[in-house]
Amino acid sequence: MTSPITEAYSWVESLDPVKRQDLLDVSQAVPGYPPPQSLREAIARAALEPASARYTEQLGLQELRSELAQDIQRLYRPDEATPTSTFPDGSNVGIVAGCNQAFCLTVMSLTEPGDQVLLPLPYYFNHTMWLELLGVEPSYLPALTHPRASGETSPQLLPDIERAASLITERTRAIVLVTPNNPSGTVYPPELIEAFYDLAREHGLALILDETYRDFRDDTSPPHRLFEHEDWSQTLVQLYSFSKVFCLTGYRVGAITASTALLDEAAKAMDCVAICPPHIGQLAALEGLRTLHDWKEGNRKLMKSRLDEFLRLLEASDCGYAVRAAGAYFAYVSHPFSQESSSQVARRLAQKHGILTLSGSMFGPDQDAYLRLAFANLDQEAFPELVARLQRSTA
Ligand SMILES: Cc1ncc(COP(=O)(O)O)c(C=O)c1O
Repeated sequence: MTSPITEAYSWVESLDPVKRQDLLDVSQAVPGYPPPQSLREAIARAALEPASARYTEQLGLQELRSELAQDIQRLYRPDEATPTSTFPDGSNVGIVAGCNQAFCLTVMSLTEPGDQVLLPLPYYFNHTMWLELLGVEPSYLPALTHPRASGETSPQLLPDIERAASLITERTRAIVLVTPNNPSGTVYPPELIEAFYDLAREHGLALILDETYRDFRDDTSPPHRLFEHEDWSQTLVQLYSFSKVFCLTGYRVGAITASTALLDEAAKAMDCVAICPPHIGQLAALEGLRTLHDWKEGNRKLMKSRLDEFLRLLEASDCGYAVRAAGAYFAYVSHPFSQESSSQVARRLAQKHGILTLSGSMFGPDQDAYLRLAFANLDQEAFPELVARLQRSTA
C-alpha cells in the first residue's frame, strides 16, 4: 500500500504551476494557520540554549510528562478535588515523536506477529499500514450510521459494539478507537467509549484510544470518564498528539498515557528507533500547555464555525455530494458518481476541478462511495469556491 498522502499529491504533480497554485487542498489533516508568535519566539529562544541540543530521557522530559498529566487530570477528571498521587506526577505518561509513533510503539509492545487487533471502519490508514508491517492482522469492524440527534450538526458513524464482541477471538489483543474520528469526524459519545472499555476489560484486551483531535470537539466536557476507573491503566492506552492543537506537525511530539509496564516496553522500542522524542519539540509542547489555553480555545471555536459553514453551504448547494458524517477536522462526504471508484473521482476532482481530497478507498474496504475533506487546512473564505467547484464537477 502506497501512503495515501503520497498518492494524493502524485495526482497533482504534473499540473501546471498556475493550476497548482489555485488548488484547494483539503487532503491532509493539518492546521492551515501557524503556531502563535509567542510560541515561535519561545522555540527560537529554546534553540539558542545549548542544552536543547541534547537527548532527553527516552520517554521525554519529566516536566512535560507531568504537565500533560495535569492537563489530562483537568480535562478528564474535572470533579476531582485532590489529584490522585500517581497520575499527575507523569509516571503514566510517555512523550514520543508524534501520535503515529505512539501507535507504533504501543502496538509493538502489545502484540506478536499473528495476533489480531480490532479496527473500526473507516480506519485511519496509518493504523492498518503499521499492523500489516508487523504481521498483525487487522480485524475490521463495520460502522453504523446514526441519524443526526438533536443538538448534533451532522450524522454520526459509530462502531457497533455487538459486532465488535462477535469478532473477538483468542488471538485478539486490542481494540482501536479514534475519537474524534479520522476520517469521519465523528465524536464518539462517552457511553460508547465506556462500553468498548468494558468489552476490552472483560476480554483482557487493551483499548487503544487515539485522541489526536480531542481539542476540536464541539464542547469542553470530558470526552469520556475512563480515567476515573481505579484500574484504568490495566485496559486503557490513550494516544495524543501535539501536532494539531499547537500546530507543531513538524516538531513531532505526541504522547502515550498507559500503565508503567506498557511504557517500559515502549521505552525500549523508543531507545532503538529514535532514542528520544525531539528535544525542541518537547519544549514547544510544554510552552503550549502552559500558555496557550485561550488560543487553543479560539481554534476549537474556529473549527466548529468552519464545519457549520461547510455543512450549510453544501446542503444549500444541493450538488449531489452529501455529508455522511462530520466533526472536528473532517467531513466524510458521499459523491454522486456511483459507477466510479472513489479514487477515480478524487483524481478527477484534483486534476480537473482543483480540489485535492482523499478517496474513501484509502480508509478501508467498502468506502468507495466517499471522499474525505479535511477543512482545517482551508480558510473559511475559500468555502464558497470549494462548494462551487464540487457543484461544477457534477455538471
Ligand atoms: C488519528 C490520527 N492519529 C495520529 C495522527 C498522527 O499525528 P502526529 O502528527 O502526532 O504523528 C494523525 C494525523 O493526521 C491522525 O489523524
